[in-house]
Amino acid sequence: MIDRINALRAEIESLTASTPEAAEQLRIKYLSKKGAVSLLMNDFRTVPAESKREVGQLINSLKNLATEKINTLKADAEASVAIAETAGIDLTRTATRIPAGTRHPLSLVRNEILDIFGRMGFTVAEGPEIEDDWHVFSSLNFPPDHPARDMQDTFFISRNPVDVLLRTHTSSVQTRVMEKTQPPIRIVCPGRVYRNEAISARAHCFFHQIEGLYIDRNVSFADLKQALLYFARQMFGPETKIRLRPSYFPFTEPSAEMDISCDLCGGKGCSFCKGTGWVEILGCGMVDPNVLEACGIDSSQFTGYAFGMGVERITNLKYRVKDLRMFSENDVRFLREFEAAH
Ligand code: DAH
Repeated sequence: MIDRINALRAEIESLTASTPEAAEQLRIKYLSKKGAVSLLMNDFRTVPAESKREVGQLINSLKNLATEKINTLKADAEASVAIAETAGIDLTRTATRIPAGTRHPLSLVRNEILDIFGRMGFTVAEGPEIEDDWHVFSSLNFPPDHPARDMQDTFFISRNPVDVLLRTHTSSVQTRVMEKTQPPIRIVCPGRVYRNEAISARAHCFFHQIEGLYIDRNVSFADLKQALLYFARQMFGPETKIRLRPSYFPFTEPSAEMDISCDLCGGKGCSFCKGTGWVEILGCGMVDPNVLEACGIDSSQFTGYAFGMGVERITNLKYRVKDLRMFSENDVRFLREFEAAH
């Protein structure tokens, strides 16, 4: 009997309970009517008279020990639940994190660009990816023998009876909007474009552009420059400088390419900007009067500017993605890197 009491004492001394419910189970197991301590009391009758006093004391002290121990376990468990609740920890929550999806980096950057121009009053316009020659080339003043009209550069879907092709730039959306709307027009046109290029780290057969167009009375090159400066500083930081270099596009006159100061070296010259301190980010210019006329807008009344930029290019500048193919492979390890950019 004494051995049984000692064994039970050791067992009770080492009890643990992590929740109040577990402590209650222990109370039932040891102290209820059919619990282990109560069963000892039932057997007390069989103890010889001369040992009754000693055994009785042992059982009583075991009962006290068990009561105290289990009460303490219960109080501690209740206290830790209360602490967890005040600390904002939800004990009912699943232990593993459920991963939320992330936006694609190109969508993040596209949205940011549209947002910046949105603050300048530009609204979003979109057009089809399958286009005809008129909207992609002819209306935009491309001469009949321009190399972009060649199979080498453009994906043609059919050439007979008319040329149907995958648009090579979002400038086609300019035409679509001008044909339907009289100025003032102030739009940005995001979308996917296609070119017949071999796929490599630096070129892809599809990519994304955002076109901008502003047409009204008295729109000047100074307006263009100021809008682009605002854009560059919002996108790349307030210290960013811009530089416009003369260039040529069939649909603008004069035309320019815009560089921003290299934010890697702060304009001092590094391998990223090939030692020049500048990186090119977009093409722009004043809309050629031929284009306005082709789209039914009176070029003696209205002038306008246009610009076009590659979303991949801007994304690379912002996030230094070295291989263009990453954008279309949908490797989740790559996409997860942009979780924090939301
Ligand atoms: N469409 C040109 C391209 O794909 C980009 C561009 C340049 C658009 C100048 C424009 C512009 O609107 O004015 O390379």
